[in-house]
Amino acid sequence: MKMARARLQPQPQPHPHPRPLSFSLLFLLVVSSQAVRLQIQDKYVVMDNEILQVTISNPQGIVTGIKFRGMDNLLEVRNPEIDRGYWDLVWSEEGTKGTKGVLDRIEATNFTVVVEREEQVELSFSRIWNSSLEGQVVPLNIDKRFIMLRGSSGFYTYAIFEHLDDWPPFNIDNIRMAFKLNQDNFHYMAIADDRQRFMPLPEDRLPERGQELAYPEAVLLVNPVEPEFKGEVDDKYEYSCRSQDIWVHGWISNNPSVGFWQISPSMESRSAGPLKQFLTSHVGPTTLALFHSVHYSGEDLVLRFKKGEPWKKVFGPIFIYVNSFLEGDDPLQLWKDAKQQMMNQVQNWPYDFPASEDFPKFEQRGSVSGRLLVQDRCASHESKPAYGAHVGLALPGEAGSWQRECKGYQFWTRADENGNFSINNIRTGNYSLYATVPGFIGDYRYDANITITENCNIELGDLVYEPPRDGPTLWEIGIPDRSAAEFFVPDPNPKYINKLYVNHSDSRYRQYGLWERYAELYPDGDLTYTVDHSNYSKDWFFAQVTRKKDNVTYEATTWQIIFKLDNVNTSATYKLRLALASAHASNLQVRINDPLLKPALFSTGIIGKENTIARHGIYGLYWLFNVDLPGAQLLQGNNTILLTQTQSTTAFQGIMYDYIRLEGPPDF
Ligand SMILES: *[C@@H]1O[C@H](CO)[C@@H](O)[C@H](O)[C@H]1NC(C)=O
Ligand SMILES: *[C@@H]1O[C@H](CO)[C@@H](O)[C@H](O)[C@H]1NC(C)=O
Ligand SMILES: *[C@@H]1O[C@H](CO)[C@@H](O)[C@H](O)[C@H]1NC(C)=O
Ligand SMILES: *[C@@H]1O[C@H](CO)[C@@H](O)[C@H](O)[C@H]1NC(C)=O
Ligand SMILES: *[C@@H]1O[C@H](CO)[C@@H](O)[C@H](O)[C@H]1NC(C)=O
Ligand SMILES: *[C@@H]1O[C@H](CO)[C@@H](O)[C@H](O)[C@H]1NC(C)=O
Ligand SMILES: *[C@@H]1O[C@H](CO)[C@@H](O)[C@H](O)[C@H]1NC(C)=O
Ligand SMILES: *[C@@H]1O[C@H](CO)[C@@H](O)[C@H](O)[C@H]1NC(C)=O
Repeated sequence: MKMARARLQPQPQPHPHPRPLSFSLLFLLVVSSQAVRLQIQDKYVVMDNEILQVTISNPQGIVTGIKFRGMDNLLEVRNPEIDRGYWDLVWSEEGTKGTKGVLDRIEATNFTVVVEREEQVELSFSRIWNSSLEGQVVPLNIDKRFIMLRGSSGFYTYAIFEHLDDWPPFNIDNIRMAFKLNQDNFHYMAIADDRQRFMPLPEDRLPERGQELAYPEAVLLVNPVEPEFKGEVDDKYEYSCRSQDIWVHGWISNNPSVGFWQISPSMESRSAGPLKQFLTSHVGPTTLALFHSVHYSGEDLVLRFKKGEPWKKVFGPIFIYVNSFLEGDDPLQLWKDAKQQMMNQVQNWPYDFPASEDFPKFEQRGSVSGRLLVQDRCASHESKPAYGAHVGLALPGEAGSWQRECKGYQFWTRADENGNFSINNIRTGNYSLYATVPGFIGDYRYDANITITENCNIELGDLVYEPPRDGPTLWEIGIPDRSAAEFFVPDPNPKYINKLYVNHSDSRYRQYGLWERYAELYPDGDLTYTVDHSNYSKDWFFAQVTRKKDNVTYEATTWQIIFKLDNVNTSATYKLRLALASAHASNLQVRINDPLLKPALFSTGIIGKENTIARHGIYGLYWLFNVDLPGAQLLQGNNTILLTQTQSTTAFQGIMYDYIRLEGPPDF
């Protein structure tokens, strides 16, 4: 079936009903018809459309200055030029263990003007690799582009990375664009409607004013310049966001009234799908556009390239938007205006103006649509629409592989209440179609590969996901949604709070030190959960952490689930579904009724390097373990499942559960 391709993405947007701005509030851009002019100097290139002026070092391609309204430079002039507005990456040689590599600010060696018209200027700053650079420079050709349009209150940037046929193997841990803003002016940070605040100053984190906590990123503000921040913890990870929620974030200056925003109208070039969490903005004042990182995932997400593995990827474009109001207006209106601008950018995606042929335009992309249903055999005989499912395309792989996939592009949407989905603006190439459905365990993958060609409109019709299921539910704990948010999240230690998240509707877990609260809540013994009596929102701690024994040692913990069986079929097999929302250097063992059983009935082995506990997250990677429980080991009456996390060298090891279910023997 062929249908006309819609130009606009019907994707659920994070802010579906932005309030239109009263025009009197806007600084009237009377000069907005002005052409873009380019000045090429010895050491700098300047793009100017009379709204703003952007200075970029020649040929390095570092943004050294942004002049706008009353401010000569929105960037921090006390920083060296290389530390103001730059693309960077962290890389390492093949075989490097862990996630620590070499930072490269990608100083280009070659500058060219790609487009120079009154309507548009596009600049290229590139660095070409050759074998004489082996071991010193990441084996990639990198082309950083900057675009300014007539009448536009901002500029665009994107980058093209390429690894060629016979080039050496290497790894990448991190790819991003960073801006360091003027510290005197930008004090208010906004990353979402309900996540914005005045922020501490960078010097508040230094030794005389701040006290480093268990991770150096977390600093207790003991003597901040502004006394209102005293006693708070500052940590950039408290401002992480899911990829699907990163559209616009940035900073506001009160005087003069200026907003600096990073707008990303598409997440196609970000690693690892819609749920991957990335840093956004944080004390500095810093604003980041992360395209690839290992945060909340660990080594599994290191981008590893083999010798001669051909690879080319375009990151971005993103839009750097600046706005301003007349004096006396509420500066928070700048955030509302930035959201409106974000909507405009999303509607214009994919952009038609980037000059690189590596960035395909609307008519060079294709779309896929269909309807996803779920058939959970024991829960119901009929299939139900997969309402709210994440449905997406990523490089071909196993079901669920998208959460570790970083080399290709990913395209995601949500299924509506009928299960209908439509994914638009997909780059040509081969993909698998994946889905994950809230309320159901496991991962869906469509059997066949999907080949996207220019302008294709593939209708898949009805697809049915059959989640893992052997028998009827005897009991369950939690909600299968890849997150531990529904479990008990304690109040933070009053000594370590971020005021923004006290009583916050859905971010109470973004507080420092929650791991230590476990031993305080369970001083005499580990958590015991009794099916039919306990309530997982109160009685299931959000993470099975280690127990603090004294100041330096930690103990393994064993959680118990007590449940009653009226009848046991001793010759049947029962099934325990253990869905984990995250793991960090952990080994989860399962025993039934016998705490000393050796070996355990089941062991995950050591899994995860996600660091979700230390980074104040509520999920990392998703793991599903299906454990057979022989009926012969079950008792009529009370039974106990013992869950032991055996690894206990640090405070940050542990498991987050997503959902646990016991299934009876098959009855169909
Ligand atoms: C969406 O689902 C409904 C109900 O199954 C179906 O009738 C309709 O054709 C679907 N719409 C589209 C646009 O696919
Ligand atoms: C996609 O897969 C088909 C069939 O396997 C293959 O012929 C084609 O070259 C692939 N296309 C791309 C872009 O990889
Ligand atoms: C899908 O594509 C992958 C990678 O190109 C290939 O390995 C796999 O065999 C293909 N699967 C099918 C069912 O064609
Ligand atoms: C948070 O909620 C608790 C309990 O409802 C209340 O006592 C406390 O005052 C609230 N704190 C803030 C900062 O709103
Ligand atoms: C479980 O506890 C939560 C939070 O206190 C409460 O809202 C909910 O109603 C309780 N559920 C049951 C089944 O008692
Ligand atoms: C643990 O550390 C606290 C604070 O640093 C200290 O007061 C206490 O004596 C230490 N306890 C042990 C057993 O080392
Ligand atoms: C017990 O389980 C076995 C193996 O699944 C099955 O053959 C048998 O019918 C079951 N007995 C009852 C009473 O359900
Ligand atoms: C079963 O466990 C429940 C809850 O711990 C307890 O109240 C009950 O007495 C136990 N029954 C038996 C027979 O041990």
